[in-house]
Amino acid sequence: MRIPEQKIDEIRLNTNIVDVVSNYMQLKKRGRNYVGLCPFHNEKTPSFSVSDDKQIYYCFGCHNGGNVFKFLMEYKRISFVEAVQELARELGIIIEAEDQYEDSIKSETEILYDLNVEVARYFSDNLLNEKIGENAKKYFESRNIKLATMRAFGLGYANFGRESLTEFFKTKKLDLEKGIYLGLLLKSESGIKDRFNGRIMFPIFSPNGRVIAFAGRILEDKADTAKYVNSPESKIYYKGKILYGLSHAKDEIRKNDIALLVEGYMDLISLHQNGIKNVVAISGTALTDDQVLLLSRYTKNVVLFFDSDSAGVNASMRSIDILLKRDMNIKVASLPNGEDPDTFIQKFGKKEFEEEIQNAQNFLEYQTEIYSRKGFFNDPIKTVEAIRELVKPISLIADELKRSVLIKSLAEKFSLREKLIELELEKVFAVNKKEENVAEKFRVKSEAKEQNVEERILKEIKVEKELIKLLLEGEEKVSKLILEKIKPEEFQLTIHQEITSVIEKLLDEEKDVSPSVVIDQIQNIKTQQYILEITFDKYRISDEWESLKPSEGISILIKSAKDAIKKFKGQKIDFELKNNLEKLKTISDEETKIDLMRRNSELTKKKKEIETEIL
Ligand code: CTP
Ligand code: MN
Repeated sequence: MRIPEQKIDEIRLNTNIVDVVSNYMQLKKRGRNYVGLCPFHNEKTPSFSVSDDKQIYYCFGCHNGGNVFKFLMEYKRISFVEAVQELARELGIIIEAEDQYEDSIKSETEILYDLNVEVARYFSDNLLNEKIGENAKKYFESRNIKLATMRAFGLGYANFGRESLTEFFKTKKLDLEKGIYLGLLLKSESGIKDRFNGRIMFPIFSPNGRVIAFAGRILEDKADTAKYVNSPESKIYYKGKILYGLSHAKDEIRKNDIALLVEGYMDLISLHQNGIKNVVAISGTALTDDQVLLLSRYTKNVVLFFDSDSAGVNASMRSIDILLKRDMNIKVASLPNGEDPDTFIQKFGKKEFEEEIQNAQNFLEYQTEIYSRKGFFNDPIKTVEAIRELVKPISLIADELKRSVLIKSLAEKFSLREKLIELELEKVFAVNKKEENVAEKFRVKSEAKEQNVEERILKEIKVEKELIKLLLEGEEKVSKLILEKIKPEEFQLTIHQEITSVIEKLLDEEKDVSPSVVIDQIQNIKTQQYILEITFDKYRISDEWESLKPSEGISILIKSAKDAIKKFKGQKIDFELKNNLEKLKTISDEETKIDLMRRNSELTKKKKEIETEIL
């Protein structure tokens, strides 16, 4: 169900996040914010803050944060729509589904979903009811896939010849261009053709069960043909944000409060058919942060079932880091060599498979075993190295309690003092921090080789950040002032460009620019987190701000904004000036010299203007 945007705005406007959060935990007022012990990770000192004026929350420990909808989604492990509905019920606001009163006007994405459903039906019909699908059906049967399972997962078949689906589009008068956009059809010199050719088809579903893409597998493995061909990304399909099978698994995952993570489509389908239904598949890519975030809405507990070959081990190691960053509890199962979940459950059955889940090791034991297998513990120097490596993932965990339990177990395992491991952990923390800073620097688009690049970038970023902070105060007047003078593309950091474009768009549409609204408009999780960090940053625009009345506060904000705009513009000029002067020292060509000097006098004039301009 789609909820009209105005309804969402109405609900947001009539809800106070402080009241909602207070229903579930204790909050204490501190300054302008409220703080409490984070409900999303264990901690002894509160790092969970809620802002009354900005209507968002953020935890500095585990980085969970967002607006009131996000809080309910995370706390109750419910979907966005469910969170909106719950608040609507409390406010007595009645929500009518969009498609009820806007039946005739379908949104663009709605049309794409519908098209995919038609095509999925067509593929399925080929497999189940048509003669051409017999071989594909035999193939599934040879892998013991039952008819009911084929139906449950909407499995299908795309004919050889590259003409059938195109023909189907034409007779059904479906939109060919959209078919091309979704990667179902191809445009070639000789006209439009089918993209999937002689493959068994797996529809890929959104968490709500909509068909958003397809994967096609060849019938017989051949060295020179890709085993799977997937739909390209589109408006309705972002590969890194989807977990295959989630729509089939989510109820069971919630019920059991644990999810199994497998690699392939067939693994998932086969487990499902054999009664293990709390499974999702990452399907061929490395696990992403977005996928973990999605999964964490349903459970915090996962068991990895990856291949035991070296690619599988590497995938497990990488996945562990990503999962730990979101505070998931991780176990790793090790199936016998050469088996994957599909072959295992077919050979040994459900009971044995459940034993494998039971026997899964916690991630630290698993990693220790991997290092041991690689021979690290045969020699003292390498042992130290391995211990260092083992400490790294622990440093990713926000939960203090969990960290100390793991430190203890690591210390016991190697008969070391806990203090020693803690010291090692401190070192890793320091390195992580430094890496973050360096990464930030690299995100900057800088004119390479320019002198004093580093100094320049750091200074510019500092002013940019100040401007972003001001924008995130959510005051329309302030935001308008800034964005009238500085355009999004003038910001150095792409993350700042992303945020300012969203705010610019909201201003254009005369919408609220409070961070609780801005954050809903941003897809990128890193950016969302950045916004939260900045809004809750301990450093305030002005210390006095805390004690001011709102009306006085705004005039201070406007003054700060004017100062920051001038600084931003002035600084850019200063850097160019300085750079030109450096160049003048080394250049001998007269013409270039004159050009540079002319440019500099222009810049100096412009600088004066900026300094004296009344904003
Ligand atoms: N995969 C892919 N493209 C490939 C190979 C694999 O996208 N060329 C993805 C698929 O999502 C696949 C997963 O990686 O499901 C795991 O690969 P694999 O184990 O080879 O596939 P299975 O699904 O196990 O297929 P099968 O059992 O039929 O070999
Ligand atoms: Mn397989």
